Amino acid sequence: MPGLFITLEGPEGAGKTTNRTFIADYLQQQGVEVVLTREPGGTPLAEQVRELLLAPSNEVMAVDTELLLMFAARAQHIAEKIKPALQRGAVVLCDRFTDATYAYQGGGRGLSQQRIQILEQFVQGDLRPDLTLLFDLPIEEGLKRAAARGRLDRFEQEHQAFFQRVREAYLVRAKQEPERFSVIDAAPILSEVQEQIKCLFPRIMERLSV
Ligand code: TMP
Repeated sequence: MPGLFITLEGPEGAGKTTNRTFIADYLQQQGVEVVLTREPGGTPLAEQVRELLLAPSNEVMAVDTELLLMFAARAQHIAEKIKPALQRGAVVLCDRFTDATYAYQGGGRGLSQQRIQILEQFVQGDLRPDLTLLFDLPIEEGLKRAAARGRLDRFEQEHQAFFQRVREAYLVRAKQEPERFSVIDAAPILSEVQEQIKCLFPRIMERLSV
């Protein structure tokens, strides 16, 4: 497909959304069409599934239910928004994608990679991100920032060990696919984080011109 699929990953409070806007502003200044989106969500139906996934509830959600809902939302998102945008040559900047499933449902909840891979293949075919920015920071810092934003969702209410496993799973994936991943140190102040992101701009523009 002629467009470019860029995903932003990392724990809660890592600054993904703020930095997504920063990247979008740069690309738009270069005359590139940018589609900003997120997972779970990104279309009206997928956003409804997001609400189911994030709402704290008295009924414990089975791990397989969580996994299937993530991929149900993703299937809709890909069909309605991601593929059409890539087909017309846009850059899709997506806040989380399937690496989050490997990190949260795999690392966090303990589901096997193989199970996730089966659904990844089923739902995505050969669609994979071209570039993934992993915003990494110590979990205590991320949770502090997330708590400052207000009421905690179903995931944010998890214990520290869960987030430690999530972080480790992300870092393992980044090591396995160094070509696709760029690990950003998200701990310093915003301007310093953005200096790291700026280094990626030439690479993005180069990919777009190929
Ligand atoms: P956020 O958009 O505020 O980061 O919240 C989305 C939450 O959903 C976040 O805690 C991570 C979680 N999540 C998964 O567990 N698996 C996934 O595949 C995705 C996309 C998100």
